Amino acid sequence: MKTIAVLLAAPLIALPAGAAPWGNADPKAGKVLHDKACIACHARLYGGDGSKMYLRDGRLLSTQLDILQRVATCNAQVRAGWFPEEEAEVAAYLNQQYYHFTE
Ligand code: HEC
Repeated sequence: MKTIAVLLAAPLIALPAGAAPWGNADPKAGKVLHDKACIACHARLYGGDGSKMYLRDGRLLSTQLDILQRVATCNAQVRAGWFPEEEAEVAAYLNQQYYHFTE
């Protein structure tokens, strides 16, 4: 009985209400990954450091989950070869730096 209670409680501990879908992934690690694999192409399209891609009018994303999904899609498209933890770090970085979504 005690085991069941622990199992039921576990997801609540892993993802408390209001937590981001990337958990406590490290945005600093995400910046390093992002700068290596993602900036060149966005900068070609938008100039500068490419960050206008994330700040443009009519941008595509509106929730934290959108960011995570978009990062996963881009990772697959450009074959960056990131693991899910690394996608999470990049999503955490993009939100901290540019999107500032709270949900
Ligand atoms: C080969 C070029 C290219 C590369 C490399 C690239 N992107 Fe993109 N990215 C695009 C284009 C083009 C769009 C705009 C898509 C659209 O408007 O439908 C975009 C859009 C995005 C957006 C959504 C912007 C918004 O809010 O509207 C995110 C987030 C993003 N890319 C993340 C990444 C990440 C993370 C990587 C690195 C794995 C990456 N991109 C690598 C071309 C690229």
